[in-house]
Amino acid sequence: MINLVLFGPPGSGKGTQADKLVNKYNLIHISTGDLFRHEMGNNTPLGQKAKSYIAKGELVPDEVTIGMLRNKVEAHPEAQGFIFDGFPRTINQAQALDDLLNEKDTSVSALIALQVDDEEIVARIKLRGVTSGRPDDSDESIIRNRIEVYKSETTPVFDYYEEQGKSHQVNGIGSISGIFERLTKVIDAL
Ligand code: C5P
Ligand code: MG
Repeated sequence: MINLVLFGPPGSGKGTQADKLVNKYNLIHISTGDLFRHEMGNNTPLGQKAKSYIAKGELVPDEVTIGMLRNKVEAHPEAQGFIFDGFPRTINQAQALDDLLNEKDTSVSALIALQVDDEEIVARIKLRGVTSGRPDDSDESIIRNRIEVYKSETTPVFDYYEEQGKSHQVNGIGSISGIFERLTKVIDAL
């Protein structure tokens, strides 16, 4: 099995690249952000719980996110591997992911971080907000809060997998196909 954590700040291109990577490597794409938006769209109890956090650019509590992720992984016993996009966002979530994969006699193969600077992120997300309809993409102060939350709560996850010798960095600026090529180089060398 190959299990990839596609890492990087909001707007760094994780979703775009994950869509391409799942085709090439035959993996299941799990985007926790997309799962939350689906739940919110259907106004489920989970969606209602997540909504106020997401609207402010804060993280949904770990137990909610971890439970949702576990359900999604367990719904795919046939999977040849997964791409985790937007998860784990905290050390707690990383430990829970390791435990879950461990139960399945597998593990995280690599974490790959897309590097994009703050001003590029703000510009990209604002542009995405024009068509995404996402309230958290349309307000600069919320976008900047998401970047701050990423720096304080999520970047330690890079170090967590670095200690396991699994963290990699890729330049996330350039054409979609150019960045895809950089990612495949890292994956093919695993
Ligand atoms: O991954 P994405 O940027 O689409 O996530 C959108 C929002 O969903 C985040 O800003 C955060 O509020 C919430 N989220 C979370 N925990 C995750 C993934 C997403 O709280 N692991
Ligand atoms: Mg995304």
